[in-house]
Amino acid sequence: MLRPATEADSAAIRNLIHRVGINPTGLDWRRFVVAVDGSGRMRGCGQLKPHGKDIGELASIAVELEDRGKGIARLIIEHLIARARRPLYLTCRSSLGPFYEKWNFHTIGLNEMPPYFNRLVRLASLFMPKGESLLVMRLL
Ligand SMILES: CC(C)(COP(=O)(O)OP(=O)(O)OC[C@H]1O[C@@H](n2cnc3c(N)ncnc32)[C@H](O)[C@@H]1OP(=O)(O)O)[C@@H](O)C(=O)NCCC(=O)NCCS
Repeated sequence: MLRPATEADSAAIRNLIHRVGINPTGLDWRRFVVAVDGSGRMRGCGQLKPHGKDIGELASIAVELEDRGKGIARLIIEHLIARARRPLYLTCRSSLGPFYEKWNFHTIGLNEMPPYFNRLVRLASLFMPKGESLLVMRLL
């Protein structure tokens, strides 16, 4: 089941994001939805992060390791996409590009990126593991 996060989910969200090793900044629980199991335990999460008035980012998509491959991320992503303004952006490591292409996100070049993402990509290039790069993708 999916539901809006409450303040009580804040620690579980931070904990999951930390364990999966994705961007740990901007984790305000008010923007999150969480997927919970029959006992109410959080199994996954995601959010729509605003950057100023006009730019939205699909972010913090994460699912517990033992619950992957069951369609939980799909549920979260489709819920958020249905509520997001366009264009909607996301960043991911290059190996996850094909994953987000399932929802028609397309990789964009440096010259197409809003300044926030442009700066992030340049910065990330200094820190990404060998063989990976940071993609910025957009859904129109
Ligand atoms: C990436 C992640 C969110 C996927 O969660 P999930 O619940 O296992 O995904 P789903 O079961 O909803 O899969 C949806 C579809 O994507 C596919 N898929 C899942 N993981 C994939 C991957 N790593 N690469 C490509 N496709 C993938 C599934 O096969 C499924 O395809 P289908 O619906 O067409 O049959 C999960 O592996 C995760 O939490 N990873 C660590 C955190 C992370 O990297 N988050 C993304 C930050 S940008």
